[in-house]
Amino acid sequence: MSVCEPETKLNHHGEMSATVSAGINIALIKYWGKRDATRNLPAVGSLSLTLAPWGSTTALTWLKGAEHRFTLNGAPQDDKKVLKLLREVQRYAGLEGYVAHIESRNSVPTAAGLASSASGMAALGLAAWRAAGLDYSEERPPPQLIELVRVGSGSAPRSLIGGLVRLERDGLTLRQLSPPEGWPLSLLVAVVSRGPKEVSSRDGMELTRRTSPYFQAWVESHPADLDEAERAIERRDLEALGEVMEHSTAKMHACAWGARPPLRYIQGVSLMVLDRVRSLRQEGVGAWATMDAGPHVKVLCSPQDQAKIHATLSALDGVLEVLTLTPGAGARELR
Ligand code: PMV
Repeated sequence: MSVCEPETKLNHHGEMSATVSAGINIALIKYWGKRDATRNLPAVGSLSLTLAPWGSTTALTWLKGAEHRFTLNGAPQDDKKVLKLLREVQRYAGLEGYVAHIESRNSVPTAAGLASSASGMAALGLAAWRAAGLDYSEERPPPQLIELVRVGSGSAPRSLIGGLVRLERDGLTLRQLSPPEGWPLSLLVAVVSRGPKEVSSRDGMELTRRTSPYFQAWVESHPADLDEAERAIERRDLEALGEVMEHSTAKMHACAWGARPPLRYIQGVSLMVLDRVRSLRQEGVGAWATMDAGPHVKVLCSPQDQAKIHATLSALDGVLEVLTLTPGAGARELR
């Protein structure tokens, strides 16, 4: 990879800019637990679906100045992870003496409790990278960029790539298993609470690693799930993919529940949704559920079943809203 001279993207004001948008992603085979907290290296690999229409758009300009500036949805932010990422790009691209002015927008409805940190970090990292004139291709994202967005959020590298994506346990090897248009899928999100999550994934992972007697079993049994899911994707076998996704989800939450004190993201209403998804399957509807570090339930299905599942889950007491997402593109520079 070539490192361009910073001057190559300079405009006549002596500034270098790029604007990047990135979609959120949801893991089908979960990442939970870190091997190295400083480098944010995962204890396990993961497999995810990058989604549209929600995500982050970030406009970043490198210019000569005194201090970095960062706004998110118009509000000034002071975020250590962002500063760290900027410092790394500066060092790598030889941009000492420059500062970044960043305007970032998240289109993820904040009330939905869907993590926008992955799309936010992917958009920010790629915008800083491209504005610095550094080469990028989605087919082969540079390891240095993967590393720096991962330090901000363990799931962020996956938002660099569209469609179904596998990230290995090394935290660097990223592979697209199917492009967004390669397999029509839908992901419905049953929103069951409006509050912020009680325990962040970072803290939850650390507590689980330190105290859950099931953590080792989680790590050891994980690679087989990744391979099984990848084979199901190769065959476009939604039933097999849904089944192993539910298995991975149940293991992640069981492992966290076994922490001390117990860490339980599943609420009563989440269980009710999980039960209804299972009974839909018994009625012949292809629907499989997953959950992350919060109480909402995400349902993977084929677009032809989406309307029926949406209507069924929307009618449940305690389900506030059901949102519909589809496979989306990887992070990209807007022209
Ligand atoms: O990258 P983080 O810190 O937001 O952690 C993501 C953890 C899970 O959403 C629970 C699983 C995953 O792989 O996305």
